[in-house]
Amino acid sequence: MSLRRLTKFKRLLSPFTTSRTLTTQQNQNINEEKETHFGFEKVKESEKERKVHKVFENVALDYDVMNDAMSLGVHRLWKDYFMCQLSPTDNTKLLDVAGGTGDIAFRFLQYVKNGNYKNCHVTVCDINSNMLEVGKIRSERLKHQPETISWKEGNAEELPFNDNSFNAYTIAFGIRNCTHIDKVLEEAYRVLQPGGRFMCLEFSRLENSYTQWMYDQYSFQVIPVLGQLIAGQWKPYQYLVESIRQFPNQEDFKRMIEEAGFRQVSYENLTLGVVSIHSAFKL
Ligand SMILES: C[S@@+](CC[C@H](N)C(=O)[O-])C[C@H]1O[C@@H](n2cnc3c(N)ncnc32)[C@H](O)[C@@H]1O
Repeated sequence: MSLRRLTKFKRLLSPFTTSRTLTTQQNQNINEEKETHFGFEKVKESEKERKVHKVFENVALDYDVMNDAMSLGVHRLWKDYFMCQLSPTDNTKLLDVAGGTGDIAFRFLQYVKNGNYKNCHVTVCDINSNMLEVGKIRSERLKHQPETISWKEGNAEELPFNDNSFNAYTIAFGIRNCTHIDKVLEEAYRVLQPGGRFMCLEFSRLENSYTQWMYDQYSFQVIPVLGQLIAGQWKPYQYLVESIRQFPNQEDFKRMIEEAGFRQVSYENLTLGVVSIHSAFKL
């Protein structure tokens, strides 16, 4: 079955598989719950995960094309550089969280193949099965050896892996979509072995207010329009832009990584600070 038909089929089934009637207790819990941001909108914490899920369910099929269109292809260079900074070697067991359609995982496999590194493996974990399905199809097309890559549906805030399972952890353009960044970092720390490396690629704050203004104009005026023209959807792309503005700045995020227990935390800005790479170790 093609991916488009599979997605259509899942949508038809979804009223039967996912809808639930809330009990009075659940309703009361929701009313008392803390609020968080979904882009610029304020929502209950439990609502955010559902809304983010919907965004990526809707964009999954066009995700890769849209990435190229929105960044004019530059996201490829950021991701290539990110992998060079990770510099995997023999025996690297990588967990790529919020791995979506596999961009980071495929770069990892290409890197270890080019370097002839032995005994390496990547696990792609994402909360959204639609994104993973696209990734699996891409992986087959790229002819990656199935034993070098695994796909796992799971929440970054509650990873379905044992303690000390991996020696490298990456998360690219994923953490800002999570409701509790501190929980994501705690989980990253838990699943990494001592000596393991944490690396995060994420949109950040520009170094200069003038360039930040230009970038804001581009983001708010152009990206949702591209979303509408290319993917027929405005709202998910408006959310993507807004979520970037809500994410902590580079220094605050560095502090959060340290608070989770990581050491040797550092970051590097790329493209004037449009994105940054945070790196840390579990010692
Ligand atoms: C912008 S995409 C990034 C995908 C990929 N890392 C890349 O760089 O192309 C964000 C991904 O985060 C995933 N995601 C959002 N919240 C998540 C969570 N709580 N746990 C795991 N994945 C999550 C989404 O499903 C989506 O695939």
